[in-house]
Amino acid sequence: MSRLIVVSNRVTPPSASGEESVGGLAMALAAALREYSGLWFGWSGKTTPEFTGQLAMQKIDGVTVATVDLEDADVDEYYNGYANKTLWPLFHYRSDLTAFDRAYGEGYERVNRRFAETLRPLIEPNDLVWIHDYHLIPLARELRRLGVKNRMGFFLHVPWPAYQLITTLPGHRQLVQAMFDYDLLGFQTAEYQQAFEEYVLNEADGEQTSPGIWKAFGRTVRIGAYPIGIDAADFAKLVRSQRAVRMNDLMRACTVFRRLIIGVDRLDYSKGLEERFLAYEDFLGNHPDALEGVSLLQIATPSRDEVTAYQDIRARLDAVSGRINGAYATADWVPIRYVNRTYRRDELAGMYRAADVGLVTPLRDGMNLVAKEYVAAQDPSDPGVLVLSQFAGAAEQLGDALIVNPFSREDMSDAIQRALTMPRPERLRRWERLMEEVRNNDVTAWRDRYVQALEGLAATPRLVEAAAH
Ligand code: ADP
Ligand code: F6P
Repeated sequence: MSRLIVVSNRVTPPSASGEESVGGLAMALAAALREYSGLWFGWSGKTTPEFTGQLAMQKIDGVTVATVDLEDADVDEYYNGYANKTLWPLFHYRSDLTAFDRAYGEGYERVNRRFAETLRPLIEPNDLVWIHDYHLIPLARELRRLGVKNRMGFFLHVPWPAYQLITTLPGHRQLVQAMFDYDLLGFQTAEYQQAFEEYVLNEADGEQTSPGIWKAFGRTVRIGAYPIGIDAADFAKLVRSQRAVRMNDLMRACTVFRRLIIGVDRLDYSKGLEERFLAYEDFLGNHPDALEGVSLLQIATPSRDEVTAYQDIRARLDAVSGRINGAYATADWVPIRYVNRTYRRDELAGMYRAADVGLVTPLRDGMNLVAKEYVAAQDPSDPGVLVLSQFAGAAEQLGDALIVNPFSREDMSDAIQRALTMPRPERLRRWERLMEEVRNNDVTAWRDRYVQALEGLAATPRLVEAAAH
């Protein structure tokens, strides 16, 4: 079995004590790395006045973690700039928020080069290299320039935008060309895979030479959809933990005589939080009988707060939630409890379980793991109802949720009403099918499908070509 090297901008390994709450993806990658006695490389999250390329290495729970600091200009131009002011909004269909600035593009290229130079000495001939997300698209190209011939895969956690959108990006051709330096490209859904292939056909004069194998820019790459899942087994354990049970009890105690709707998101404009609040306001206006009988708990963890668009959405959400509460609250009831903090995973599990409805209504989302976590946390004998945006990648798999158009307040208001009044047999039927999907396509299945595909690529034409040189 080859050694696996995982590369991502943010490196979040489990803590040595194992007590820290960590995301499903981090747990899965850590597990994959343990199995493949691997290495996880990325940004430390810290800055130094000047880039030194000095590696900090530590062994955490059997996984070697290697991180490097960046300098302030890198964070401005690469992370806050090209990644989160250019690619993130564009890939989430927000061209109105997309900033094009050559300095950002230069910073992005520079940091990818720096990552490649720092990582290069750690790569051994038989290693598999698995690179994650939009921050690091050109990393394989930079590593190839340094002579790396290993099998390299890329997985995009966010949507791939429609042809009409990606072509608004200056230098889009160069970005896509860099993707052909990988051996395997993974997308979250068939829709995003097709959008990428449409670009290759229309703009790069590419062709599909055999099922899943595409040729363009004089190179060949395998392309597939690998929908990411959660660690369903771990989540089932978490839900039974003492902290989860206590949180569930607490939530039920503070919603006595009331139904609870929950939303859990990073505070990001792609998550449709403002639209959700406004739809809920419509629901309250349309259903006077529901007043004081329902409560929306929205947890929104602040994110990327150096970027203006994130400061703006935060201010708008403060204003909208304040206005709705001002209009409807009574002495013992507030319609929206809006909380800007992070919770431990076990506490979140308890909150999900206490909620009659999970509202997951992003305007656009690569997958959305919260939807899967909400399903996994439900009581099998009395499950809640998932209301899910048609524009979340998860909707391709979770068709038994109530699927809504997050841009339509009426649609969302109707879905809230339907979820709150859904008879138990229907809730059970839907949940059982959702849970089967979440369990069968969990994070381990995702990891294995991807890594096995990459491992099996030894004989792709691209590698034959590379080996001949
Ligand atoms: P994204 O990757 O865009 O943030 P996902 O829904 O795919 O969206 O993943 C979000 C992850 O972050 C989930 O595992 C979720 O539980 C976690 N998360 C979101 N908000 C919080 C919070 N307030 N506290 C703890 N974890 C959170
Ligand atoms: O899912 C998309 C993503 O950008 C991940 O790559 C990232 O870990 C997560 O959202 C949180 O974003 P950030 O690392 O910018 O806080």
